[in-house]
Amino acid sequence: MKPPVMTALKTGRLNLVPFTQAHAADVQRYSGYWEVARYTAGIPHPYPPGGALAFARDVDFARRNGSGGLVFAISRRPDTAVVGMIDLNLAIDARSAEMGYALSPEVWGQGIACEAAKAVMAWGFESVELDVIEARALVVNRASCRVLQKAGFRRVGHGSLYMPERRKTGLFEEYRLLRREWRPARCGAKKTDG
Ligand SMILES: CC(C)(COP(=O)(O)OP(=O)(O)OC[C@H]1O[C@@H](n2cnc3c(N)ncnc32)[C@H](O)[C@@H]1OP(=O)(O)O)[C@@H](O)C(=O)NCCC(=O)NCCS
Repeated sequence: MKPPVMTALKTGRLNLVPFTQAHAADVQRYSGYWEVARYTAGIPHPYPPGGALAFARDVDFARRNGSGGLVFAISRRPDTAVVGMIDLNLAIDARSAEMGYALSPEVWGQGIACEAAKAVMAWGFESVELDVIEARALVVNRASCRVLQKAGFRRVGHGSLYMPERRKTGLFEEYRLLRREWRPARCGAKKTDG
């Protein structure tokens, strides 16, 4: 199977573009907030200097060798500043992926995560031809659970998972959506040239 080719996605209010080193300064700025990191398994806290740049290099490497790197930087038109990221973490067979996201706190509560999630889900099902997209959110992370429900995911259970950067185990709600269950949503993505 050929590695997926990332394209820029456009929604009603947002641009989603492949995350690169050019976006690292914006991501570095908000990734240091404890409220951004605390419910995630993978964002370190304190966030190290140069952390976003190192992450962008890893993403670039994964993209070039076809092993992943399906990370989008989110901005609100007409601004170009990056206010968040959303990604699909492909399984080895490339038939399924897990979705994750984090936004800068100043844009929380405006429906941006849901809008970005719907765009990435459309891309994942239509372009990457995934059979299933999964997602997990800590039970205490009600905003994230709500995002997944609004985006159309089905809650399929609970499970414990070790969170390396938190050095503890968390109780997660587990969500899933099969391609045949998915319906393009009102704020779904349109492909652009860029
Ligand atoms: C989780 C996160 C991405 C949500 O982004 P967002 O753009 O604010 O999300 P949306 O505005 O699309 O939707 C949030 C929903 O949660 C609801 N919500 C927010 N806080 C809530 C709470 N404490 N309890 C219940 N619902 C809550 C909002 O009301 C909204 O639902 P509504 O549209 O029905 O009113 C953002 O808070 C974030 O980046 N958090 C830090 C990183 C993180 O936790 N990532 C996810 C890891 S699984």
